[in-house]
Amino acid sequence: MTKEVSLEVNLGPLHLKNPIMPASGTFDVRCTLLNENELNRLGAVAPKSIASEGVEYVIKEELHLLKRANNIIIVSLLGNSVEDFCNLAGYLNKIEEISALEINLSCPNLNNGIPFGVNEDKSYELIFNIKRNTLKPIIAKLSPNVSDIKKMALSVQNAGAEIITIANTFMGMAIDVDKHIPKLGNKIGGLSGPAIRPIVVRMIWEVAQVIDIPIMGVGGVCCAEDAIEMFLVGASAVQVGSANFSNPYIMLEIITGIKRYLKEKKYNSIQDIIGLVKD
Ligand SMILES: Cc1cc2nc3c(=O)[nH]c(=O)nc-3n(C[C@H](O)[C@H](O)[C@H](O)COP(=O)(O)O)c2cc1C
Repeated sequence: MTKEVSLEVNLGPLHLKNPIMPASGTFDVRCTLLNENELNRLGAVAPKSIASEGVEYVIKEELHLLKRANNIIIVSLLGNSVEDFCNLAGYLNKIEEISALEINLSCPNLNNGIPFGVNEDKSYELIFNIKRNTLKPIIAKLSPNVSDIKKMALSVQNAGAEIITIANTFMGMAIDVDKHIPKLGNKIGGLSGPAIRPIVVRMIWEVAQVIDIPIMGVGGVCCAEDAIEMFLVGASAVQVGSANFSNPYIMLEIITGIKRYLKEKKYNSIQDIIGLVKD
């Protein structure tokens, strides 16, 4: 009988049965096609980012479903100011079922309109203050729209983040060539999907050389090989985003594919391949 390979990982204080989970905003527990058994095979579940206005709705309508789905629930937060984020983090601190808070640093700061995640000092200030309002593990989800992702990673690590997610979407633009106006209502918007994956892989690799806390990779993962690239450059877990829209079963297929890869390469555990590619 062949031995089962282990996909268990420790992601800072979180222990995951496997390292694959949905990216915030691309999975809805209220209408997913996955049944309870299938949801329970994921490493974690994660709803769309919550803002102050929507928090009670999510707790009332989604939390019980998330809890039935999986024992690891990662809740992403969205805010307009440090105070806004801190209030939200303080409120969610009391909710036992929540395993960790992922801070969406791509939010514009209403004080200056610039996203927290493109300024080292603002990111530090935000994470530092959130940490003072909650005992939940903090995951800092970095914006990739910066010239040096290592500096941003170091700044949130120094502020107390336990885990780093790399990365949110890349700012893009599309133009209507007949009307000569931007196609998107907000003029600019986030680019996700396969095109961003090599950039994210490079960022994970760069950050893994300079920080001590675990990394979650996200960006354009569509199959097991894509996720494995991220593990090899130093990610301890991988989130799947846009690919869920074209194939709702993709996360389960990726989990199966990773197991197959590890068996073929004669590894016992996913831990054996994390960070193998250093330079
Ligand atoms: C429709 C959509 C909604 C998203 N909503 C959120 C969100 O609420 N919070 C967040 O942190 N990221 C959000 N994201 C970004 C994803 O979580 C992920 O970082 C990004 O899409 C890159 O991964 P992918 O290429 O696998 O989609 C969203 C992405 C998409 C496509």
